[in-house]
Amino acid sequence: MGDEQAGRILILGGTSEATKLAAALASETALPALLSLAGRTSKPALPAIPSRIGGFGGVDGLADWLEAHETPMVIDATHPFAARMSWNAAQACARRKIPRLIYTRRPWEPAPQDRWTRVPDIEAAVAALGREPLHVFLTVGRLSLPAFARAPWHSYVARSIDAPQAHELPPRCRVLLARPPFREADEKALMRGEKFDVVCTKNSGGAATEGKLLAARELGVHVIMVERPQAPQGDALFDLAAVMTWIRDHLPTP
Ligand SMILES: NC(=O)c1ccc[n+]([C@@H]2O[C@H](COP(=O)([O-])OP(=O)(O)OC[C@H]3O[C@@H](n4cnc5c(N)ncnc54)[C@H](OP(=O)(O)O)[C@@H]3O)[C@@H](O)[C@H]2O)c1
Repeated sequence: MGDEQAGRILILGGTSEATKLAAALASETALPALLSLAGRTSKPALPAIPSRIGGFGGVDGLADWLEAHETPMVIDATHPFAARMSWNAAQACARRKIPRLIYTRRPWEPAPQDRWTRVPDIEAAVAALGREPLHVFLTVGRLSLPAFARAPWHSYVARSIDAPQAHELPPRCRVLLARPPFREADEKALMRGEKFDVVCTKNSGGAATEGKLLAARELGVHVIMVERPQAPQGDALFDLAAVMTWIRDHLPTP
């Protein structure tokens, strides 16, 4: 065990919310924290607080880790689609009686003029594309790309932060490597140039990647929206200032 990791607030990260929270806690000497990343991104932006990378080994592994490191609380700032980690954290914290907060972003909601088809998961998104060949803009994350191989009659442009491997891509798929934020004007130019029939995306929420939805609204492009998996019960906040207050309110009394 690395002693420098003991007694710290554990932030489960991999999101801009986690990075913002880590930066805020870096200047609070009374609130020592540790950022945990899964290790999916090749060059993660690391904050000015200690960090660790890699899984804990399921609920049991995390529960043991929390006990061994005398973790005072867990802030689950994972992506809204990282459901396994969130449920593991909920169970491990309940077992160790450690306070846990979900810090996430508000989901996007359609405006009246939007043309959204809302689906529960990626498989349903593939099915919602239908049998008619379409030109599809995929912003679903690299790990969800293989599912689209089941609909090889469409042509795809997949946007990803890290380069997908060839076997992860459906046929007839070009890759656009780019990192958010994405501005609405650039999204509109891209969609106009590509003449996309449909944008397929996950309801991640947040301003940094909302530009594609605003552009689709203006251009009348159809959106297939994969809705979030169910999150575990418990406190959940969307705002950094409120999270800081929650942390202070839930610190164990010495
Ligand atoms: N899913 C998305 O669309 C998406 C998008 C952007 C960023 N991310 C980020 O990418 C990471 C992986 O996402 P995912 O969807 O693969 O997660 P997941 O399916 O919920 O988790 C799979 C496993 O990865 C490990 N893991 C996940 N997040 C971790 C963290 N912050 N620290 C240490 N281990 C972690 C855990 O392994 P053990 O069981 O061994 O502990 C977990 O059981 C997360 O940090 C998430 O915030 C995900």
